[in-house]
Amino acid sequence: MKVPLSSASLTNKEKKIINKIFDSKRLALGSYLNKFEEITKSYFSVKDAIVVNSGTSALHLILRSLDIKENEGMIVTPFTFIASSNVALFERAHPVFIDIDPFNYNIDLKKIEESLKDKKHPLWNRIKNLKNIKFFMGVDVFGQPIDWDNAIEICKKNDWKIVEDSCEAIGAKYKDRFAGTFGEAGTFAFYPNKQITTGEGGMIITNNIEIGKLCRSMANQGRGDSSEWLEHVRLGYNYRMDELSAGLGYIQMKRLDEILDKREKVANNYYELFKDEERIILPKIEQYTTRMSWFVFVIRLSLDWIAKFTDIPEYVRKIDLPLYMKNREQWKELLKNIKGITYKVIEKLNKKGVQSKNYFSPIHLQKFYRDLYGYEEGDYPITELISSLTIAIPFYTDLTIEEQKYVVDTVKAILDEFEKK
Ligand SMILES: Cc1ncc(COP(=O)(O)O)c(C=O)c1O
Repeated sequence: MKVPLSSASLTNKEKKIINKIFDSKRLALGSYLNKFEEITKSYFSVKDAIVVNSGTSALHLILRSLDIKENEGMIVTPFTFIASSNVALFERAHPVFIDIDPFNYNIDLKKIEESLKDKKHPLWNRIKNLKNIKFFMGVDVFGQPIDWDNAIEICKKNDWKIVEDSCEAIGAKYKDRFAGTFGEAGTFAFYPNKQITTGEGGMIITNNIEIGKLCRSMANQGRGDSSEWLEHVRLGYNYRMDELSAGLGYIQMKRLDEILDKREKVANNYYELFKDEERIILPKIEQYTTRMSWFVFVIRLSLDWIAKFTDIPEYVRKIDLPLYMKNREQWKELLKNIKGITYKVIEKLNKKGVQSKNYFSPIHLQKFYRDLYGYEEGDYPITELISSLTIAIPFYTDLTIEEQKYVVDTVKAILDEFEKK
């Protein structure tokens, strides 16, 4: 059996819309852009929704509309998709990384103050020209909102503007409030591995009319309110979505609740199938997450199991790690050994038709972040450790129970095989 990592849920309804737009020959700036925005606005009960061509564009426009400046800082997790932090670099500002919680994988809010106070912390050592920290990018990783009440309190105290990267969390709820509605503006992304898709695409939602206006203008080459095609009132981009994608988005948005319900069932099946499997740690869903919007299903190998094959000190097994590591060489070696095992499991899964991937790779350790700032292993130990253990397994709306059983049986068989060696 072959089970892909992800697969979009598309029906005849989507096909019909695509054909209709195709026949109309109106492939850009047609009525579906507006329809997609209106349905989104109404679903989230927000004042504005601006459709764009990617989640990255959406995040970039929000930062621009908040007037982010060179050398300003933006707090963000290093355990996310790289666009969350790159958008600060687009404007010559600096992502300021804070390590994560080892169980829900979101930014660890408790670490913010601790990290900022410690002048030996990598964030001070690595970012030479950091002026003021002005922004907080809250990323709802894997479809689970961060602890927004706490985050908002911290941001108020520090006078940080909040941008919400809810690209992975469309429809998720924190204490019954929608992800995407906690900051100045929030974003969704519609790449085909996402809960709903437009091929490529993104959306900004906001209750701030001025931000909405600026984002709409900048997405459309800086055009002003007049509909004059060659009148540009500010620097802008071509971040527009095309009409075929917008038609797709309109239908997918109508199906959002149905899709999220199905994904929830698939996730629950995995919890059930892995129930007695102690070698695997499943994602922790916090009490405040009143609705999870399942994006990917990421399992992690237990450190107690890995310790059968390589030496792991007790404090690492308990994930009782300092803010940053002192003995870098020892830490690097340990990560390498753990990763070696995880990657072997991933390779074997893929060979058996269960498409799997390590998810995420720490942003600060990406080549150009190392080159730019000098980051190295040990700077954000929890992110690095978790990342060395995580495996995204097949997860999508229409995944069948037979396929899920095959995935889980294959994972278990591969772990058994390791033990026999
Ligand atoms: C957390 C997060 N932020 C931003 C993005 C960027 O979205 P896009 O790929 O549409 O530019 C993604 C997409 O994968 C994401 O997962």
